[in-house]
Amino acid sequence: MARKADTVRTINVAVVGLSGMEKDKGHAGVGKSCLCNRFMRSHADDYNVDHISVLSQTDFSGRVVNNDHFLYWGEVIKTSEEGIDYQFSVIEQTEFIDDASFQPFKGGKMEPYIKRCAATKITSAEKLMYICKNQLGIEKEYEQKVLPDGKLNIDGFICVFDVSIVPSRSLEKQVEIVAAILNNLVKTKKPIVFVTTKNDDANELIVREADKLLQRKEYKGAIPLVETSAHDNVNVDLAFMLLAQIIDRSKVRSKIISYAEAARAR
Ligand code: GTP
Ligand code: MG
Repeated sequence: MARKADTVRTINVAVVGLSGMEKDKGHAGVGKSCLCNRFMRSHADDYNVDHISVLSQTDFSGRVVNNDHFLYWGEVIKTSEEGIDYQFSVIEQTEFIDDASFQPFKGGKMEPYIKRCAATKITSAEKLMYICKNQLGIEKEYEQKVLPDGKLNIDGFICVFDVSIVPSRSLEKQVEIVAAILNNLVKTKKPIVFVTTKNDDANELIVREADKLLQRKEYKGAIPLVETSAHDNVNVDLAFMLLAQIIDRSKVRSKIISYAEAARAR
């Protein structure tokens, strides 16, 4: 019989956060794709900064996007400090914009993002793993990995919050939308880790707003916060590993280290 430590635990994660049109998210996204990219493809050469957001109708209906507003980032196995192997399957919940109309694509019944991103039963037949922007249209030239059985049951969420200043985005808007997302995530009763992104370019005021949001009474200070930078590869594995340990009800939890401390230790 396999020893407990030899079994691989499967962890299915949805990465969510402010998404959609420029009027809401500003000139750049909050960093969901870069965070997923850094975690799933940790080799430095595999890190891309530019990910899909505004698309043609053809790309939207291709097999990678598959007429959905989420991306399947594939699977990766990572070992925790105490030697437990976790196999992560990750999806990114986003909203794709039509490059002709600059409106979100309409796919099936369209619930608002704040509600849709909290879904725990994900289905998409024959959907291909997303690797990078250049893959669209030439899928055969890349590894073709299909979402197994066309479905995924989400075990926990990473809710991202961008602490950098992005032109044309209001801080109030991000706080309002992320609070609404968190309220819907809490209802699923699944574990949540709150991840601040772009700490290499952090604004103090925005960092404080993120802390304040988590102190609201509805979260009872129960949602852990991990400060990350995908660009500098700081605390990215920590955020996903901590979520896995909470999902797995592990007695051992990775110690949360601040961005400053983690960046110094590199
Ligand atoms: P949508 O899916 O379109 O909503 O966006 P997203 O949330 O996936 O954001 P994405 O990861 O595409 O990041 C948008 C931009 O933010 C990137 O092109 C980078 O310029 C910047 N960015 C992402 N991660 C970091 C980071 O760790 N540090 C800094 N300084 N910038 C980052
Ligand atoms: Mg994205």
